[in-house]
Order: sequence, then C-alpha cells, then structure tokens
Amino acid sequence: MKYFATSGTPEKQRTACLIVGVFEAGKLSAAAARVDEAGKGFISSLVKNGDFSGGLGSTLVVHDPKGVTASRVLLVGCGNKTAFSADSLRKAQGAAAAAVMATGAADALSCLGNGDLDDLDGYDLARAAVAEVEHRLYRFDQFKSGKKRPRPKLRRFGFACESRKASNRADKGAEHAAGIAKGVALSRELGDLPANVCTPTYLASTAREIASGDKSMQVKILSEPEIRKLGMGSFLSVTAGSHSPAKLIVLQYKGGKAKDAPYALVGKGITFDTGGISIKPAGAMDEMKYDMCGAASVLGTMRAVQALKLPINVVAVVPTCENMPGGSATKPGDIVKSMSGQTIEVLNTDAEGRLILCDALTYTKRFKPQAIIDVATLTGACVIALGAHYSAVMSNDDSLAGELVEAGNSANDRTWHLPIGDLYFEQLKSNFADMANVGGRPAGALTAGTFLSRFAQGQRWAHLDIAGVAWLSGSKKGATGRPVGLLTQYLINRS
Ligand code: BES
Ligand code: MN
Ligand code: ZN
Repeated sequence: MKYFATSGTPEKQRTACLIVGVFEAGKLSAAAARVDEAGKGFISSLVKNGDFSGGLGSTLVVHDPKGVTASRVLLVGCGNKTAFSADSLRKAQGAAAAAVMATGAADALSCLGNGDLDDLDGYDLARAAVAEVEHRLYRFDQFKSGKKRPRPKLRRFGFACESRKASNRADKGAEHAAGIAKGVALSRELGDLPANVCTPTYLASTAREIASGDKSMQVKILSEPEIRKLGMGSFLSVTAGSHSPAKLIVLQYKGGKAKDAPYALVGKGITFDTGGISIKPAGAMDEMKYDMCGAASVLGTMRAVQALKLPINVVAVVPTCENMPGGSATKPGDIVKSMSGQTIEVLNTDAEGRLILCDALTYTKRFKPQAIIDVATLTGACVIALGAHYSAVMSNDDSLAGELVEAGNSANDRTWHLPIGDLYFEQLKSNFADMANVGGRPAGALTAGTFLSRFAQGQRWAHLDIAGVAWLSGSKKGATGRPVGLLTQYLINRS
C-alpha cells in the first residue's frame, strides 16, 4: 500500500473514494460540511432522511456524489461530537478502512479527524489510519485450498491535512506506522502458523531471513550441544521430551554507534506447550501454538526496527523449543541447574516459560545492554487479571516500566505496571533447591515475574506478560501482533 498526505481542499480532490466524518445527531465534520456545501446539501439530506445517523463506526457509500471531484464519498460515523477523542477517531478510521476495502476503489483519501480534534496532529492521525488499514490487509489463508476471500483493490491511501506542516507530520506518522505494520504482520503470521510448521527450526530460519542481505543485521543460531555447553540446564529441561531440536536464536541489529550499549529483547519461543508431564486439559489446547508469540513479537520488532533504520543497537535473544511429555521428559520434582548457577525444583512442568527465559536472561547479560525487556505468554493468571486489553509489565526499575507504559499508550498497545519482589519470592521457596518454578495460585503472574527477576539482577530489566493480548480466541481466533507496536514505539522513543 502506498500512503500519502496532502493539504488540499477535500471537495476538489481527485480520488476514487473521499472519506468524511459525520457526528451523531447529523452534525457534520469540518470536511463533510465543505463537501456538503459543494454538493448542494446531499449529505445533510441523507442525514435528514434518516439514511445516516453518525453512530460511531457506521458507514455509508455514496456513488457519483454531486459537486465533488471524487467518484465516491464514504460517510463515516464519528459518534458523539463533544466526546470525540483519539480513541473514537481510531474506531472511525477502522470502520472507514473496512468499508473502503469492500468497494472497488483503488485509491482513497481520508479527511477523518482533520480539523475536528485540536490536540491531534497529522502524525497521530496517519499513525492510527495506517495501522487500521494494515491490520485489515492481513490474510492467513495459505492452508485453505478452496476459494479465498478476495484481496481489496485498494492500492493508495491518503490523508487530508489542515496545513503543509501537518501533512509533513502525517508523512512521518505513516512511515512509522508502515514500519511497525511490517513487524506486526510477521509476528501475526508466525503466531498463526501451526506448530507442525512453526517449529524452533522454522523460527531460526525466519531470523536468518530477516538478517539476510542486511549488513546491519547479524544472526547466530545455537544448537542443543552449544546450549548445553553454556550450562543452560533449565532451558534444556523443557525440551527434554521433544523430538524437535531446541534453538537459541541471537539476532543483532547495529544501527547505532559501535560503542552504544544495545537494547535487548528476549522472547519466549515455546512453539507448542502441552504442559509436559503436568499435561494441560484438552479444551482449546490448540491455542498453545501461540506460546511462541513472545518470540514472534521480538522478531517482528526486529523487522520493524530494520524497516525504520533506527539509529540504535538492538539484540534479540530467543530461546525456542517445544514442551512435550515423553519418556525422556522432565518430571515434577526434578531439580535442574540454570546457567546462572541457581538451582530450580520443577514442581510443575507446565511453568516452562520461566525455565527457558531464565537462561536466556543470563545469556543476554554478555551484551551489557542498557535495558533488557523479555516478552512472554507466561501465565494464565495474567489473562485472569487483565484480560485481552492490557499486557502486564513488571520491572526492577520503575522508570523503565514507566517508559514502557508510555510507549504502549501512544502506540495503542497498552500495558499495566504490576508489582514483583521479595514478598512474592516467599511463595517460590523450595525445600530442596534454590527456588521452585511455581508459587501457587495467588498472584500467579507476579510470582512468575519475581522468578525471572532473580536472573536479571544488576540489569535494567522489564518483563511483559502478553498471555492475554497476543491472540484472540473464538470466532476471531488469530494472532494480534502485540506487543510489536509497544516495543517499536519504545525503541523509536529512545532513538
Ligand atoms: N503458556 C502458558 C500460559 C498461558 C496459559 C498463556 C493460557 C495463555 C493462555 C504457560 O506456560 C503456563 O502453562 N503457565 C501456567 C503456570 C502455572 C503452572 C504456574 C499457568 O498459567 O497455568
Ligand atoms: Mn505451560
Ligand atoms: Zn507456556
């Protein structure tokens, strides 16, 4: 898709589809009023006749509109005018994107938000619009052999802005959003791929693909013997029951100065989580193919950073394997030794994410990063706490947590700061090892975060639990690509 910004007058734009907003009770947006005037009141009469109410997210396509150069006008409901916000604008943009893609229009120009929101500049406007369009361009139908849902004809999408300055800002917003969208699409695809395709080896080859032909990227894939040599007994205990070999993926992006300390991203890459010997119930177990969404979002963020050519250094570390039962699988009560030297009593083999991440965190210290952010579909408890709206952030550094919350808010990929610490470590005490891998039902997301913090000591570290936000269930089942938006925004803010 080609995106562009313009500061021309709406009614004179040559486009296959001009998109204008209408508020509830038939109040026209600034752009709609101009088009209405040029078109001898055709919008007001649609409103008056009850054909369009302006309810948030409603749409109506008007063909061959009078008095304007555009061949279609798409009316989009923007809801209550006094309550109009960045959030309602985003919903209206989403509805507009869906409606224009359902037409045969090959290009469109959106006037949504233009002149209707004071504190919203062209940058935010374009950011949100591009994200909404790109979200709807994603298809995952490679395994459907019948007739596929037709691809939209849309090729060019523009934003009308109030001024030249605003349209320059919109160009920047569109550029950032398109870079993020590339990462989101990769992350969604990796998530949606079934576990018989998306294996640890597949994730490794994806990392190789990202790096190939790019001098600013370097990739290293560690195999099981190398992982063993590093002393990652905890990581290896998770893959013990699997026939698919584990990998440790290390992908480095060098866009900054050689001496700049990198940002480190660590992603949980369990390509399927059966629970192991502490096996999960059968219901919805297929969704555990999404247990590599932390890894997917980290690789997606690397792709976005690459597309945006950010002037910083970033290293991605992805421990990836399957969690399977079997004759050689780890058993409840087994004690393993992590790369850090700390020993762990594996009371529940289904709490495997922390077992692979702890060794990856220890390994990541060698890059002397300025911050480490790990990303994981870590706990069902996090889903219970926050649902599908917010991911959870836990950290040993309140300022880092704050930066991530802020990045999430501005990228519409929200996260909520939750506590960790010694109070929760009480629950992880073991009679036989330095710690247990589970802390019981209370505060399950926080004991998991506290467990990880023991492997990030001396580091500026944060943990994102994305168990509730990485994919949708039910009829909308599919990966969301979160938190690529949050992570990329965080890195943009640091650039
Ligand atoms: N991958 C799961 C967490 C999960 C469950 C994410 C459901 C999304 C939806 C993780 O490996 C797991 O099984 N965690 C256990 C931990 C427990 C045994 C302490 C859980 O949350 O039940
Ligand atoms: Mn598990
Ligand atoms: Zn898991």
